[in-house]
Amino acid sequence: EKQGYDHYMLKEIHEQPDALASAIKPRLTSENAVVFEELDQSFFANIDRIEFVACGTSYHAALYGCQLLNARGIPAHVHRAGEFSSYPAAIDERTLVVAITQSGETADTIESIHRVNETDARSLAVTNVVGSSIERIADKTVYIHAGPEIGVAATKTFSSQVATLSLLAAYLTPTLGSKTASNSALLSSIAELPTAVDTVLSTADSEYVAQTLVNRPNRFFIGRGVGYPVALEGALKFKEITYEHAEGFAAGQLKHGPLALITPESAVLVVFTGDHDEKTVSNAHEVRSRGATVIGIGPDQADGPRRVCDEYIGVPSLTPELSGVLTNVQLQLIAYHCASALGRSIDRPRNLAKSVTVE
Ligand code: M6R
Repeated sequence: EKQGYDHYMLKEIHEQPDALASAIKPRLTSENAVVFEELDQSFFANIDRIEFVACGTSYHAALYGCQLLNARGIPAHVHRAGEFSSYPAAIDERTLVVAITQSGETADTIESIHRVNETDARSLAVTNVVGSSIERIADKTVYIHAGPEIGVAATKTFSSQVATLSLLAAYLTPTLGSKTASNSALLSSIAELPTAVDTVLSTADSEYVAQTLVNRPNRFFIGRGVGYPVALEGALKFKEITYEHAEGFAAGQLKHGPLALITPESAVLVVFTGDHDEKTVSNAHEVRSRGATVIGIGPDQADGPRRVCDEYIGVPSLTPELSGVLTNVQLQLIAYHCASALGRSIDRPRNLAKSVTVE
């Protein structure tokens, strides 16, 4: 069943080009128009803001999608479902609540939609599992079509969630977005995403970098823009399967406290996207001058970022808004190779379950 891979996680990482194609192809025409068969624009009539609810990796995908909406002038926020279910945001008939959940069974996310259903707000579920519980309670459902994910660590479903949310952001722009918003760079990069991920998977950089990360007291993952949710996701994946300490931060946040943790033994993984990289370069300088080992991951063509890093892993250059999907694949592989070097139970990490059905 693992088709020659040592673990489901590695198999699922390698399934990403196909999973992405399944999410994208039916929804993007050859003229780069976006189609959602399960939706129609009338469902979004009079919506003036979008509130995402999700947990874990799906929460990071929601943060990513939220940035794409905000960049197009569509007001959006993200909530951890475990908070929203007890302390919901103020919502009304002009609010669309979007629940992101791979399994469609996460109790906190389901309970959040029950709370939404007590109000006049509308709800949309974005899930991987057809016939899941979330589908029964949300007003509408969109599938990410990633195929079954067995490993407890979510990998291909994050990429497919981001791809689906990118398409949704483009789909909503003409009706809910600003008049000046443009989707052309985003849509042409979405079309290139499966091939670009395939290119990332054919490199061996992550194995080498993983070796420099195993014997450390801590590791920090930083990024800005879409690099921020990717930094959070990179750290989550790392701690989930290696059982080692890792934290993700918005790059600009370091100097407001976390910088005190940096020592010459620290490793800092810096996500570059090709957008505002000069600021992230100066954040990388801040940690390097404290002796930390700096590992950059970002677009191939990046002189400034390459100069500030001890090691730099290049990924194909896409529009910055989607480059985070590619850097995230490298971070998945880095976490995997570290966990493998440490002999961890990669597909079934201790204390964790694939879907969390209790609040
Ligand atoms: O099925 P869901 O997407 O609702 O699950 C949410 C989280 O429990 C899940 O993403 C968890 O954080 C993963 N194990 C992370 O790899």
